[in-house]
Amino acid sequence: MKTLTSLFSCALLLFISCKNTKKTDPLMTYIEEPHSYAKPNKAVITHLDLDINVDFETEIISGSASYLITNNDASEIILDSKFLDIEKVQADGKDTNFTLGDFDEILGNPLTISIKKDTKQITVFYKTTNKTEALQWLKPQQTADKKAPFLFTQGQAILTRTWIPIQDSPQIRLTYNAKVQVPAQLMAVMSAENPKEKTPDGVYHFKMKQPISPYLIAIAVGDIAYNPISNRTGIYAEPSLLDKAVYEFSDMENMVASAEKLYGKYAWEQFDVIVLPPSFPFGGMENPRLTFATPTVITGDKSLTSLIAHELAHSWSGNLVTNATWDDFWLNEGFTVYFEMRIMEALYGKDRANMLARIGRQDLEEELEGFKDAPEDTKLKLDLKGRNPDDGMNSIAYDKGYLFLRTLEESVGREKFDAFLKSYFQSHAFSTTNTEKFIDYLNENLLDKNGITFNTAEWIYEPGLPENQAIIVSDKFEKVEKTVQDFVKTNTIDQAITTGWTPQEWVHFVRNFPEDMSVEQIKTLDKTFNLTNSSNSYIAMVWYEQAINHDYHGNNIDKNIEVFLTQVGRRWYVSTIYKAFKNNNKTDEALAIYKYARKNYHSVTANTIDDMLGYNPE
Ligand code: BES
Ligand code: ZN
Repeated sequence: MKTLTSLFSCALLLFISCKNTKKTDPLMTYIEEPHSYAKPNKAVITHLDLDINVDFETEIISGSASYLITNNDASEIILDSKFLDIEKVQADGKDTNFTLGDFDEILGNPLTISIKKDTKQITVFYKTTNKTEALQWLKPQQTADKKAPFLFTQGQAILTRTWIPIQDSPQIRLTYNAKVQVPAQLMAVMSAENPKEKTPDGVYHFKMKQPISPYLIAIAVGDIAYNPISNRTGIYAEPSLLDKAVYEFSDMENMVASAEKLYGKYAWEQFDVIVLPPSFPFGGMENPRLTFATPTVITGDKSLTSLIAHELAHSWSGNLVTNATWDDFWLNEGFTVYFEMRIMEALYGKDRANMLARIGRQDLEEELEGFKDAPEDTKLKLDLKGRNPDDGMNSIAYDKGYLFLRTLEESVGREKFDAFLKSYFQSHAFSTTNTEKFIDYLNENLLDKNGITFNTAEWIYEPGLPENQAIIVSDKFEKVEKTVQDFVKTNTIDQAITTGWTPQEWVHFVRNFPEDMSVEQIKTLDKTFNLTNSSNSYIAMVWYEQAINHDYHGNNIDKNIEVFLTQVGRRWYVSTIYKAFKNNNKTDEALAIYKYARKNYHSVTANTIDDMLGYNPE
């Protein structure tokens, strides 16, 4: 009887594990999506072996991408490829036929490769070209130390296909190994297990053993060094920046610990940050194990480190539980902003978190206003078919997504909400999900269970903002607003009031100048607080925006704005400033700067500004 029971339970176990295997079978779970040519239901990649050479002379990466595949009886496998030179393709080590289909401006070309039913591995031999959109090759002059060239990639949303031929959909998950040859004296790091020191011959080996989506494959190469903060966190940066960066981000270990306390174990073992040259187009990018970050957050006072909390939060929302399509981008970013605020609250208190949330609330208001003629784009669930997914990557996903989750939290209570989120991350770990599946999960595990009704569909599928929004209160910001109003009335400002203000209070102060504030008043404020020369990039950026809005410099362009736009390539910052020029009928001034600043920008920033200013680079 005993044996029978154990036999039975063995069979049961086998059945359960079969079911589980089926659930994660890479061939079974793929939802149609508009931004990849791949047909993973037919044949899908599961592991990449990358073998590449990084040549700074020609600014070309060349080598091979070899994939283990799972084939469902298909006679071909389709990869995405854009601006790549495909030299040769092999199936299980033998040359095989391939075709590059028609080129699409957004998607690139489908690379269709002939395979047999039993093909286990395909290898693509290829080179990048000077049109590659993911890579930015920098001259020594464009780095902090000005001694060595630098290279970094940006994969999100659909740019990985411009440096590796791949099935470039977030629904794909693959592990990877890489062998990378770079010039001796430079170090290479990837979204993988990383070296801590340079090798004498410039050859580096990488391993990413957890399955990740293609947009998270990343590499950076430069004269960089490593400094640990704890046994699982640390910083890569150019030597002259390293100490400053380590100081700035010294709370990283505490951030990981408090994130784990909220929503479960950190799944990627190591959490490092690399500080990139200032042309990096984002504040940060959550490449697994190695967040890529802009140097503009190194202020000397740790005031902009919520960026690190944000990228860290993506280790759960985004990297562990991934949006299935770019229409579901809010699942990545909305959850991440919510999580970011919770980390900030846990470490620094409600005051600081609510200031950040209020800044986001104003961003949202401005974004909604900007989209008043395109209300469809203010929905959380997007429809980006036929469009560049980048079009959907604005404050709506972040700040409306956040407000939705915060409102939900306040409706159900924090305890229940936290338990729900934790189980959401756990039960979806290393998989993708879309908006509809999330709604089902929410209904089943939070709302129905507790007998709560909530207007989820309105929040997700309707434009604009529902009535039931969480109200975010910040006493500190109210005082700041009063200070602005008093100044406008009296033309005088008591400096003592601003003593001890955090950079967030300054940002709020500057952003809330009334439209009709006079040039004289702007001048007074600049004289009193020297805002033009602010060393905090965030304060400087919003100040420049207001300087332009209020015509502070008349027909002359402030040298500081010019320098800022030439040196910094962070898209959010530079687009805010160019937009201010444009909105104030100063497009010519903007173009005068942009024409020579553009060469310092990564393609994602350049594309946005080209569109905004109607600039044609050819
Ligand atoms: N994943 C994003 C960056 C991104 C978004 C790249 C869309 C490509 C397409 C990253 O996590 C992010 O949100 N960065 C923000 C940080 C901020 C919200 C703290 C940024 O770059 O400003
Ligand atoms: Zn993000």
